[in-house]
Amino acid sequence: MMLSNKLLLGALALASQTAAICFAPEPTKRICYDEAGATPQNLTLQEITYVAGYLRYYGSQKGNPQFYTMNLPDADNCAEWQVTTKGSTWVMAKLVGDQAASVTFDDIANTIDGGGATATDEDKAAALLGCNTAGGQMGVVVDAEDPRYQQPQFTDGTYTNQGIIIKLVRNPGA
Ligand SMILES: *[C@@H]1O[C@H](CO)[C@@H](O)[C@H](O)[C@H]1NC(C)=O
Repeated sequence: MMLSNKLLLGALALASQTAAICFAPEPTKRICYDEAGATPQNLTLQEITYVAGYLRYYGSQKGNPQFYTMNLPDADNCAEWQVTTKGSTWVMAKLVGDQAASVTFDDIANTIDGGGATATDEDKAAALLGCNTAGGQMGVVVDAEDPRYQQPQFTDGTYTNQGIIIKLVRNPGA
């Protein structure tokens, strides 16, 4: 299953980390990769729409987890994991906070496509989909009204729903 296929990149090889320290935190604001200094990823809108729909579907299936979770210490040092892929499109999640984080698959999907079938043009433009084929990154837009964030793992502080950044990039091999 693709969703359990973690890709550990970068500084993760550093030994003996117990606290989560991200030496290269990134802002949660949206950055489109057609901005100065960035590399357009040349994605397709079809694949971007597909991965969002897939994640929404995945999280809605009975027996599947409803949350995408980045646990410590696995996700230490700004860990960047692959959430899913389609064709030449990779969806990556990076933990930039200092706490274990967990978000619903719905929130990841909405961050990508603005809300699926119910998204307005404005919603889509504000989501990663609004970066068009260039791709981009932004913090997961958390639906704070979602009752699932009232579950004990959030209210007891085991997890925060903050600190996960989603990136849409091109499979370097494609
Ligand atoms: C996307 O295409 C542009 C223009 O051809 C190129 O400069 C850029 O490197 C490509 N991006 C990737 C990730 O291959």
